[in-house]
Amino acid sequence: MSRSLVIAIDGPAGTGKSSVARGLAVAMGARYLDTGAMYRIVTLGVLRAGVDPADAAAVAAVAAEVELAVGHDPGEDRSYLAGEDVSTEIRGDAVTKAVSAVSAVPAVRSRLVALQRELASAPDNVVVEGRDIGTVVLPAADVKIFLTASAEERARRRDAQNVAAGLPGDYEAVLADVRRRDHLDSTRAVSPLRAAEDAVVVDTSDMNQAEVIAYLTELVEQKAGVAR
Ligand code: DC
Repeated sequence: MSRSLVIAIDGPAGTGKSSVARGLAVAMGARYLDTGAMYRIVTLGVLRAGVDPADAAAVAAVAAEVELAVGHDPGEDRSYLAGEDVSTEIRGDAVTKAVSAVSAVPAVRSRLVALQRELASAPDNVVVEGRDIGTVVLPAADVKIFLTASAEERARRRDAQNVAAGLPGDYEAVLADVRRRDHLDSTRAVSPLRAAEDAVVVDTSDMNQAEVIAYLTELVEQKAGVAR
């Protein structure tokens, strides 16, 4: 690949998006940017400040001050809040519950979108993963991929993850939650989740991770060949 490429990967949770985005970045020797982690770091900052995630004005005030940093190594991406490594804490329940409200605040999005553009602009191949990368953050990305999977399949995967983590399985409850979040994500006013018109939509319901990575690597190589 002779020139640097920007790859945007969007889609809902439960499509295997993070693992696939990391795998593609490794295969391409690219940097990896997890924009969801950035929303999670801000959310942790909001919770630690004792602010109610539903109080948009207070959330915006905290978000303007939060000092955040993310690594870009797909093999070991780390997240920092005011210099502290919070990579594990941002995946916990408290942050996961509050992150939707925090990420819906326009001032949060505008600060993070600006930072994401800056981080993606370095002259290397980069894989950027999120919800609005191909539509809003990097509309000129060289390759846009939108990963999907049926709600049932995404619920099945999440339920299996819960069971593997020692939590009780409850497929019907997980499915209801997946559908609720799909609705919230696709109908919110700012940056609703949708595929860019020029995105390649990949349904991962019947594909394993290795198959998806191989397919995307081929897609990127084709595009890179065309761009050369
Ligand atoms: O991908 P994730 O679960 O780590 O994302 C965390 C939250 O941040 C999720 O509620 C969606 C939101 N998000 C967003 O609104 N825009 C992005 N570009 C990335 C994530």
